[in-house]
Amino acid sequence: MSSSIRHGYETCGVKGYYEQHGQVYRNPHYRSLCQSLKQLLINSPRGRTEILRGLLNTDRLEVLDLACGAGEGTQALLQTLKILQPLSTLQQFPKIILDISDPYTLEAFHSQQTKTPLPTTTTLRDKSEYTFQDMSRTEPLTDKRYDMTICSYALHLAESCLFGVLYHLAMHSRYLVVASPHKKPVIDVSMGWQLVEHVVIEKVHSWLYKSLLT
Ligand SMILES: C[S@@+](CC[C@H](N)C(=O)[O-])C[C@H]1O[C@@H](n2cnc3c(N)ncnc32)[C@H](O)[C@@H]1O
Repeated sequence: MSSSIRHGYETCGVKGYYEQHGQVYRNPHYRSLCQSLKQLLINSPRGRTEILRGLLNTDRLEVLDLACGAGEGTQALLQTLKILQPLSTLQQFPKIILDISDPYTLEAFHSQQTKTPLPTTTTLRDKSEYTFQDMSRTEPLTDKRYDMTICSYALHLAESCLFGVLYHLAMHSRYLVVASPHKKPVIDVSMGWQLVEHVVIEKVHSWLYKSLLT
């Protein structure tokens, strides 16, 4: 995390910081995030095998970018899947149904998409109601089925909601990708997730988990 964001959290609190700065949020470590996801999902044999077998074998993917910021996780994930797609049995890149959730930054996400548009085959849906607090109760996700959820640079902010968020997510999402500038959060099988692979590139940790509950 950048020192100015950390300073912002210390002076205004997380909520106060994003209420004031959410519309202009950008992740200064985006390049390293992309490198880390490539290492996790392309270069690591376990990650690549799991994604090719378990995910890139269908022509339609439902993805949730949880606490999406300006879409850094989405962009890094889509770039990575695009590189992998020619190795799959699919002729074309799958159609993506993308749900983006964030209580403070959806404006930043949409303004960033005007500069780096998503593939034209993507259907985008705003889910600002998926806060960590709401997701730790199960209601917002009832009837939802995601192939993958990405949560980049944000899951540590769930704090006391972490167990509930992850447990409920494990009932609604087949895979989870987490990226973080430090070793937290610690996720284990009691939360419904089995670790597939963990890598650290340019100080960015990335983990791929498979749900034990879907
Ligand atoms: C460091 S940013 C990460 C954003 C983006 N995923 C990235 O990779 O840069 C943390 C994000 O968590 C979101 N956030 C803060 N509190 C939250 C909460 N209670 N529930 C859900 N998201 C929250 C913020 O709005 C912000 O977009």
